[in-house]
Amino acid sequence: MMNWRSGINLSWFVLTICACGHDPDPGDLSQIPFVSPEPYSLVFPKGLPTIAEDNSNPLTKQGVLLGRHLFYDPLLSLDSTISCSSCHNPKLAFTDGKAFSTGVGGTTGTRSSMSLLNVAYFNNGLFWDGRAANLRDQALQPVENPVEMHEQWPNVEIKLRRSAFYPKLFREAFGISNKSEITRDLATKAIAQFERILLTGGNSRYQKMLRGEYAFSVDETDGMEMYLNSNPALPDAQCGHCHAAPTFASNNYFNNGLDSVGSLNEFKDPGRGAINMIPNDLGKFKAPTLINIHLTAPYMHDGRFGSLDEVMTHYTTQVKKASNLDPNVANLKISARQAKQVIAFIKTLVDTSYLQNPDFFSPF
Ligand code: HEC
Ligand code: HEC
Repeated sequence: MMNWRSGINLSWFVLTICACGHDPDPGDLSQIPFVSPEPYSLVFPKGLPTIAEDNSNPLTKQGVLLGRHLFYDPLLSLDSTISCSSCHNPKLAFTDGKAFSTGVGGTTGTRSSMSLLNVAYFNNGLFWDGRAANLRDQALQPVENPVEMHEQWPNVEIKLRRSAFYPKLFREAFGISNKSEITRDLATKAIAQFERILLTGGNSRYQKMLRGEYAFSVDETDGMEMYLNSNPALPDAQCGHCHAAPTFASNNYFNNGLDSVGSLNEFKDPGRGAINMIPNDLGKFKAPTLINIHLTAPYMHDGRFGSLDEVMTHYTTQVKKASNLDPNVANLKISARQAKQVIAFIKTLVDTSYLQNPDFFSPF
């Protein structure tokens, strides 16, 4: 509230000054030197495909740096307590380790935070239900979500314009010449640039095995062959249909059998179907990445499972019926030992080498 009021006072002040005609415009940034931003050369890790540059928002060093500041800055929230990183902690593969994230004032939502590693590969909707079309669209939402940052973009724009350092960072990233050009559009462009660099490092045991630098144990090999269904002598664990290499995720939405419903309208969380209004998509969710899954418990959109053992118990004995249950999900005919082997394989996907990249961490 205080910021809103002082924002109004500020624009009144600007207008009055301009009307007199002789004092300089306090929003003017032209005295700060400006050189064209330098391209950010993103190195795609071994084993992950390159992604075409977004020509409407090319990566630059200055843009990524600005986005990194915004991502780690609680200024984006109503009472300066919550930043994007509060719920997307780099040490937890950019999740928060909770079933439900905590927003301003201790409020909680109904969904679990999602990893942002390799998020640039998802081009068929973001969030568990895919309601955001792309990273820029996504970044608009947490700021105004009452259970997250609970702020309003016009206030954020005023706070950024009044900041001691953001006007300079915006000028360096986007060449603006007046503070009034600091908008949510440029802020979310910068955040999207920062998120696009958040790639895993290509150093998992799985990737090393593919490159001949690491030999899998018997358990890891059997686990992989069941996961990918690549050995007719072993049962299909079906995971690879949906959590597919190389990101071990999917750009699609599925019902993986978490809840038993008589009618599709009964899902507690309607998921994808509430977004695209396709009744058969009710109760479907995005299949997230299994890379670094050991860092992101608890699991599923509502954090209902605390461990990978519980996840395997679900897929082997607890699959619930619904008319749109995916045909690739059924109580698996694998032994307890084989379930452990699948977990052993998933653990070879662990790649924490991204933690060595200083560009991923708070600039403050
Ligand atoms: C209070 C916790 C919280 C805050 C703050 C927060 N997020 Fe999230 N984030 C979540 C949750 C929970 C989800 C999943 C929500 C859903 O599906 O409805 C999510 C999902 C996402 C996704 C989708 C990932 C995917 O694979 O689809 C992105 C990207 C993201 N957040 C980025 C951000 C950015 C950028 C900010 C800051 C502007 C931010 N988040 C602030 C909790 C938070
Ligand atoms: C038909 C597609 C499909 C198959 C097959 C499948 N999953 Fe999933 N998986 C999903 C979906 C969809 C979700 C998210 C569900 C939700 O939260 O509502 C998910 C969630 C998960 C999660 C939690 C992810 C997180 O970030 O919380 C893990 C772990 C997981 N699956 C592991 C596996 C394993 C292991 C297998 C094989 C035994 C497997 N899945 C098979 C679709 C699938």
